[in-house]
Amino acid sequence: MNEEQIKSEYLQDIQTITNSKDLLEVRNKYLSKKGKVNELMLKMKEVPANQKAAFGQMVNNLKNYISEGLDSLKNKLDQEELQRKLKTEEIDITLPATEIKTGSPNILEHLIEEIEELFMSMGYDVVDGPELEEDKFNFELLNIPKGHPARDAQDTFYIEDEKFLLRSQTSPVQIRTMLSKKGTEPIRMICPGKTYRRDADDATHSHQFMQIEGLLVDKNISLSDLKGTFDVLAKKLFGENCETRFRPSYYQFTEPSVETDIKCFVCQGKGCPLCKNTGWITVSGAGMVHPNVLRNCGYDPKVWSGFAFGFGAERLAMLKYGITDIRKFYQTDLRESETFDRREN
Ligand code: DAH
Repeated sequence: MNEEQIKSEYLQDIQTITNSKDLLEVRNKYLSKKGKVNELMLKMKEVPANQKAAFGQMVNNLKNYISEGLDSLKNKLDQEELQRKLKTEEIDITLPATEIKTGSPNILEHLIEEIEELFMSMGYDVVDGPELEEDKFNFELLNIPKGHPARDAQDTFYIEDEKFLLRSQTSPVQIRTMLSKKGTEPIRMICPGKTYRRDADDATHSHQFMQIEGLLVDKNISLSDLKGTFDVLAKKLFGENCETRFRPSYYQFTEPSVETDIKCFVCQGKGCPLCKNTGWITVSGAGMVHPNVLRNCGYDPKVWSGFAFGFGAERLAMLKYGITDIRKFYQTDLRESETFDRREN
């Protein structure tokens, strides 16, 4: 067959195409390896050398002509098919929809974000610190030298001859921040993060838990600044009527040190199992930054003063959401997060 014959046969063939199967057949007949166009191309060897180029060009044009024709026919068929489907197929809107599973934010994460936002609105930076910490940051520069009995209560996991440890508190971030932010006072930071203790896990203890550390260093800071700040947080988390109080306490890196309490929101101070009949619930340790700690970080305690605090994040969340077992935070049971979503909205 020559070019003209192929073309006229092709033009007849496409008249018969009514669906994509016909179309494929026609495409194969002309454009496949054993198709008519290739057959023609094979005649190249019979063509005199000086006409080979023109011959090749002609076969190529034919191939393009057929392939473009079939492509546009395919488009037309597809369109017709779509229109037909749109006309004939109905969507049954009474069918149950495919369920789309969504996650829920972890309760702890949610609470931490809420606290971060509050403190950011008061000009605090949210900072990070390493979980694998050096003894000097976790203890020594916080005024807890080697052999100090306070270390017993914060036994943790040690690495490499006790030089490194998994931090037992977020307080080392106070030191790191004071050292790195020197010259850019006032310093205002909070640091939520994981902490570790060698505790056996039970309903209220976890070998890994989260703390939220806070630090403010400026001139003329007093305990009343701490009280005001704590009050804002307590009201935000536990409602406008939440009353707060300080109780004297002892930490090595603060002087004076306090425990910060909120009035029991279950019994309003009358006494109940939640507050162990005291009417108050302790939510954090806090105090004025100890002069030794200021000095350790190169701040003159006669010029600079500050306050610090440390919350247990799980404890706050347990109180706020009525969760009775700390292990629930780490079991990633979606049902727990979902209940929480419902509690929130
Ligand atoms: N780091 C202390 C702990 O884990 C909590 C704490 C107490 C942090 C007093 C502070 C603070 O910043 O001032 O028990």
